[in-house]
Amino acid sequence: MNTLILLWLLVALVIFPLLLRITAPYGRHTKAGWGITLPNHIGWIIMESPAWIVMTTWFFINPADKSNVQWFFYLLYMGHYIYRSLIFPFRLRTKGKDMPLVIVLSAILFNLVNASILGYFVSYACTYTDVWFYDPRFILGLALFILGFGINFWADSTLINLRKPGETGYKIPQGGLFNYISCPNHFGEILEWCGYALLCWSVPALSFAIWTAANLLPRALSHHRWYRDKFPEYPARRKAVIPFLW
Ligand SMILES: NC(=O)c1ccc[n+]([C@@H]2O[C@H](COP(=O)([O-])OP(=O)(O)OC[C@H]3O[C@@H](n4cnc5c(N)ncnc54)[C@H](OP(=O)(O)O)[C@@H]3O)[C@@H](O)[C@H]2O)c1
Repeated sequence: MNTLILLWLLVALVIFPLLLRITAPYGRHTKAGWGITLPNHIGWIIMESPAWIVMTTWFFINPADKSNVQWFFYLLYMGHYIYRSLIFPFRLRTKGKDMPLVIVLSAILFNLVNASILGYFVSYACTYTDVWFYDPRFILGLALFILGFGINFWADSTLINLRKPGETGYKIPQGGLFNYISCPNHFGEILEWCGYALLCWSVPALSFAIWTAANLLPRALSHHRWYRDKFPEYPARRKAVIPFLW
């Protein structure tokens, strides 16, 4: 298992610099020439659902009784991905916008492999007993996870609400963490999965956090460059994704 994860992490090492050079063409970066497209919110549902389907399959094909810790890890992950795949797409104000199929397919691959690695750990390899709930790594990790999810949810909600129903354009987001970084939603999501890695204290969860960062750091940098190009009045001191740093 660890060899497989190592190989998968090597793929992330290749993908990260590629994503720094080639901006994934969806949302504000959509452009012609990327082949077949499908409606944006359908794309989100299809590409994010494998995450919870694969995790649930792993969890329930193992007939053994699960510990409280396994149930906790499972439900935390499920909470995020049920939200991302079945609720978030219906909150978006992107009527009439499309997403390339190639983005959907690459996200499906990302979710299939990551959810398999994590699903195997949560369902089979995790041997913690209830004592783990009192471990400082669990407590700190859970705090980071909740904070990260809160920031991600707040930032996405702020961005979605910049548009009145029916609008499709872009505005400069203001307030809270937006005063420091262009993409608090990506910052929050990275924090969330770093928290999950800490509370699971396992290589599979660490691998997932690294993959999330490899995906979202380049996206945040692309967003940041895009804001600066599009809005000459864009706040000069605002960083891309890590307050005061990057
Ligand atoms: N785990 C992962 O690897 C992963 C990968 C990708 C995304 N995600 C998560 O999925 C969520 C969405 O990601 P994203 O990169 O698509 O986010 P995003 O580009 O910031 O967009 C979020 C939503 O807000 C709208 N929006 C963004 N900025 C706006 C502005 N300045 N004015 C008006 N509307 C604006 C977007 O519309 P448009 O679509 O029309 O631009 C979209 O509907 C985030 O929470 C992210 O963390 C996770």
